[in-house]
Amino acid sequence: MKKVIVIGDALVSSETLERAVHQLNVNEPIEVKRFEWYSNLEKEQFQEKIFQIEAGGSEAVKISEGIIGELETANYLLVHIAPVSKKMIETAQKLEFIGTCRGGTEHIHLEACNRKEIPVIHVIRNAEPVADFTLGLMLAETRNIARSHYYIKQGQWVKGFANDPYKKALSQHTVGLLGLGYIGKLVLKRLNGLGVNVIAYDPYVDIEKLDNLNVKLVELNELFRQSDILSIHARLTNGTANLVNKHLLRLMKPGSYIINTARAGLIDRKDLLEVLKEGAIAGAALDVSWTEPLEDNDDFLSLDNVTLTSHIAGDTVDAIPRSPYLLIDVLNDYLKNNTSDMLVNMK
Ligand SMILES: NC(=O)c1ccc[n+]([C@@H]2O[C@H](COP(=O)([O-])OP(=O)(O)OC[C@H]3O[C@@H](n4cnc5c(N)ncnc54)[C@H](O)[C@@H]3O)[C@@H](O)[C@H]2O)c1
Repeated sequence: MKKVIVIGDALVSSETLERAVHQLNVNEPIEVKRFEWYSNLEKEQFQEKIFQIEAGGSEAVKISEGIIGELETANYLLVHIAPVSKKMIETAQKLEFIGTCRGGTEHIHLEACNRKEIPVIHVIRNAEPVADFTLGLMLAETRNIARSHYYIKQGQWVKGFANDPYKKALSQHTVGLLGLGYIGKLVLKRLNGLGVNVIAYDPYVDIEKLDNLNVKLVELNELFRQSDILSIHARLTNGTANLVNKHLLRLMKPGSYIINTARAGLIDRKDLLEVLKEGAIAGAALDVSWTEPLEDNDDFLSLDNVTLTSHIAGDTVDAIPRSPYLLIDVLNDYLKNNTSDMLVNMK
């Protein structure tokens, strides 16, 4: 008998996780125990919990009620974004793996997992939609698509924009990618297809794994100096918070743009606001904000050189509901081969 604990939340229900678990290829009966983590919150309120856990990790929020006692004898633990704290991992005596149906693993105490040699396996459920959206933002901001639409809705037929001196075809820009992980690579693939010159900075990227993609790796300062469009695809960690600051922004050309579909905290808000207000760079397109939803009087709303969207880059109808089933596919692969490309630790 394999005992599987699933923890549902407001985005991925414990029922869906349980249904998915029954597709696991194991030669033993499966017993599923369902737990909840703020499953009754509205999506907007739940976003607050996501922020808390992304900023503070597994110890920053309370864990699911009653879970500790059950974990001691559990074989598998499957969650979406519910915290898997140090105490939870230390309690577990039989845990063979932890599966999470999202890309980020801020909610899991990886150090404790490493100490107990418990593999953590994840899925990237919305990399393709985010990569598509990133290209959309590049075009929207450099070619004034959203701004023109906005003016027409206001009854104005506008032909001139703040970035007029810099307008050119996408293929005439050098795009710089900050981070070449799952999403960065998919953006690169798309840009290669469009014949765009791409440079990138990623201190951990494995050149061998770039699969003939066409990109020149450069140092961080050079990335900001040379890019016409700088697109951010790193994760927000203690080491990357406010990485994009005054120093780097001031290296950028006057006709250059910042695109951010990653996390707002990677950019120093005040510094970006300053260069945009001054017109020291041509513009920015931001899918993510420092406070979400954006406040009514947010300074970014008064700028005529930004395109703002409401953290929707990854939102396609199937991404979240499909994620537990994607995870099961990956876990079945892991169970068969005893390894997986989607291992977060213990590679
Ligand atoms: N807007 C949305 O709806 C949405 C949806 C999904 C993911 N995201 C965000 O997109 C971003 C990328 O996600 P992913 O799945 O590709 O992540 P990933 O972990 O696969 O890739 C991140 C990459 O950043 C690199 N990196 C680490 N430190 C760096 C540094 N100092 N400078 C440059 N690169 C560095 C890593 O080596 C890695 O290759 C994340 O911030 C994620 O939260 C946003």
